[in-house]
Amino acid sequence: MTPHAHRRARLMTAMQHGIAVIPTAPEVARNADTHYPYRFDSSFYYLTGFVEPEAVLVLIAGDAPQSILFCREKDEAREIWDGYRVGVTAAKDQFGFDATYPIAQLDEKLTELMGNLPKLFYPLGADAAWDARMLKIRSAVQAKARSGILAPDQITDVRGLLHEMRLFKDASELALMRRAAAISAQAHIRAMRFTHAGQFEYQVEAELLHEFCRHGARDPAYPSIVAGGANACVLHYVENNALLRDGDLLLIDAGCEVGGYASDITRTFPVNGKFSPAQRDVYQIVLAAQAAAIAAAVPNQTWDAPHQVALRVLAQGFIDLKLCGDSVEAVIESESYKPFYMHRTGHWLGLDVHDVGDYKVNGNWRNLQAGMVLTIEPGCYIRPADHIPRELWNIGIRIEDDVAITAMGNEVLTAGTPKTVVEIEAVMHNK
Ligand code: GLY
Ligand code: MN
Ligand code: MN
Repeated sequence: MTPHAHRRARLMTAMQHGIAVIPTAPEVARNADTHYPYRFDSSFYYLTGFVEPEAVLVLIAGDAPQSILFCREKDEAREIWDGYRVGVTAAKDQFGFDATYPIAQLDEKLTELMGNLPKLFYPLGADAAWDARMLKIRSAVQAKARSGILAPDQITDVRGLLHEMRLFKDASELALMRRAAAISAQAHIRAMRFTHAGQFEYQVEAELLHEFCRHGARDPAYPSIVAGGANACVLHYVENNALLRDGDLLLIDAGCEVGGYASDITRTFPVNGKFSPAQRDVYQIVLAAQAAAIAAAVPNQTWDAPHQVALRVLAQGFIDLKLCGDSVEAVIESESYKPFYMHRTGHWLGLDVHDVGDYKVNGNWRNLQAGMVLTIEPGCYIRPADHIPRELWNIGIRIEDDVAITAMGNEVLTAGTPKTVVEIEAVMHNK
């Protein structure tokens, strides 16, 4: 059984009785005859491994579980223009479905399949057009009431079950995430070796993309942030069009996608290859915060524990730098750290860079468990202000790694990316 078929079986067991309808993502037009690069829906892909657009998975749970794919038919004319299609016949064997049908038959077949099933599961509320379509099909089933056919009387958002499954990565997923992390680590090393004053940020970005692509990772998992100097203090900076200056830091937040799985790495290093004393002081604080947070990312600690640990180290560091006064407790209590650290310390990572999965259960932060993958990414962003020592102005630093929780502790998937001051300066001096 493929991992995808195994996941379908698990989802049907969790559903108990009912029908699930899970569409992939639509193609999106950019203009005229051009589309944005196609990316399948993550949950659809998780359950099918099928990458073509215009496809819908239908699962029927109960005593005789069935998984059914609706997809595009073979079409010689369209394949000449747009490329290969698996087609309805080959998809059945190749992907292990019990049945496959042309996508054009979806509504008609669903009207048959939905009859006498108690529950309808689909991504409720994710897309208004799908909501309307599902209700219309359900009404068509209701219209058969006099023939003794009942329509589902419960509609459930399938994402609840699916997201909890996706939160725990299996061995095949972890293998892909290790590969994505290793390629991204190489890309960051390439960027460090390439960088010098006088280049534009986009030229460094080109090196990242080159390294991703030459290893088979065609797509970044998210738009790369290549932020020199003050730009590093803009959290979602993606213009990447400024000149890199001697004496500035460069913050790069970039990761590739492999087999649909994201990596997400941030490194910050000096454009000229040598940290200034002030840059080094701030860097060491963020690095210590990250090390403490990674040490706290282990089974039976809560999701929030790494953040709280990082926050204490950062708060003490901000006091030492004279950015904040008082005690660690007072800095945290009053949130006087927030002008310098305004985001949390990580997020789930998987098929989506900000992956699915609840962070709280019954109102409480959930415990970390083996198979979860998260980022650990503390930072410090210092904008110019009269009360701040001038040598700290425009220092923006984030250090981000991808961490898989294991039975005994954790595995830092991105460990191949230089991180200490000594490691970074050595890579930059041995170009
Ligand atoms: N690259 C997106 C993030 O770090 O959350
Ligand atoms: Mn991240
Ligand atoms: Mn990131």
